[in-house]
Amino acid sequence: MSLPKDNKDSIPEPVKGLEGIVAADTKLSSVNGEKGILRYCGYNIDDLAFNTSFEETICLLYDYELPNEERLNEMTKNIGEARVLPKEVISVITELVGKTSPMSTLRTVVSVLGHYENNVPLNELAPKALRLVGQIATAVAMIHRLREGLPIVEADPTKGHAEDFLRMLHDKEATQTQIEALNLYLILLADHGFNASTFSARVTAGTLANLHSTITSAVGTLSGPLHGGANEKAMDMILEVGTKKKASNYIQKAFDNKQKIMGFGHRVYKVDDARKPHLKKMAKQVLEEKGNMKIFDVSEEIEKQVKDRKPIITNVDFYSAPLLYGLEIPTDLFTPLFAMSRVAGWTAHVLEQYRNNRLIRPRARYIGQIDRTFRPIDQR
Ligand code: CMC
Repeated sequence: MSLPKDNKDSIPEPVKGLEGIVAADTKLSSVNGEKGILRYCGYNIDDLAFNTSFEETICLLYDYELPNEERLNEMTKNIGEARVLPKEVISVITELVGKTSPMSTLRTVVSVLGHYENNVPLNELAPKALRLVGQIATAVAMIHRLREGLPIVEADPTKGHAEDFLRMLHDKEATQTQIEALNLYLILLADHGFNASTFSARVTAGTLANLHSTITSAVGTLSGPLHGGANEKAMDMILEVGTKKKASNYIQKAFDNKQKIMGFGHRVYKVDDARKPHLKKMAKQVLEEKGNMKIFDVSEEIEKQVKDRKPIITNVDFYSAPLLYGLEIPTDLFTPLFAMSRVAGWTAHVLEQYRNNRLIRPRARYIGQIDRTFRPIDQR
């Protein structure tokens, strides 16, 4: 590309997509893409996945330590009490549902929730951040119930987060397997280094904008199909393929048309995503319990057909889809559920950014014309 001389000399070549750029230090999570290892505060996700609760994960991300029993009880109580929305916010949801997607409604709800919080100094923000973790779960359940014209199910602060969410969504008690499945999903998606939505939350925090602005940025960023929106698209694909027999043709066509296959590929992982085997195992258990393995079998066949053609890794979003489907979560709530988990990581990162802030402000290389001759409008 030929550039105006002074631009070319002063600004280095940009790194497209910021690939490989390290933008900050964090003590929250680390991703080893070569070996497929994800750690939260030094603990391998394989150890956390089936042995902890989402509440313990939140403690870990907020305190950098796993909790003792007392701290866990306090966290469970606090997040339970946080699963309540101001009534004005319920009116906003009622106004929006059916007119916008659940993810757009959720983004607006996060923004509106900020109006009901007092200003507190940055070093006292953790309770406010935790409130948002609780409120997002209730908002997602309410978005669904209100759009279906169903009565709202009040939160029960005595229950665990995963269990209470399923109850608020479906107005029935979930099975033990379903509670474990959602708990696992919430743990596994809670944090993941400098993924796009976390980065956007930290960029917003870097300007010292308020907490709700940072999470509103993050929800918007998560919604895109190359990020959190991929789980919904993966489910659409699995349903469209429908039978194992049709998978080969479908995937061949996608490759022929150079289409991205949703739920595959990753910027960091060179081997399968660390979260995939756990999600796959749990999706199988949930669907077995329902006595309907068709969706799981089709998913496995799609994975095989993709890998037979190209060594692309399977990412977190692929087996999230049959898992959430097995929990009877409507497809357009998949990305809001991703937000319901990731808000733990987003808020922890925002608190970390505020504690050691420096404005995040990269540069762009200007590649347009320079020194153009100005002409008044009547001469253009
Ligand atoms: N289907 C087909 N080919 C793919 C895919 C895919 N899903 N992903 C990557 N490739 C190929 C791509 O065509 C390219 O091939 P070539 O070098 O021959 O041109 C190569 O792999 C590198 O792909 P890229 O798009 O340059 O990689 P990236 O790091 O910019 O993008 C990605 C990463 C996740 C956006 C991309 O893999 C993708 O679009 N995947 C589908 C959407 C998806 O599942 N997103 C969820 C990501 S993980 C969870 C999350 O962040 O929410």
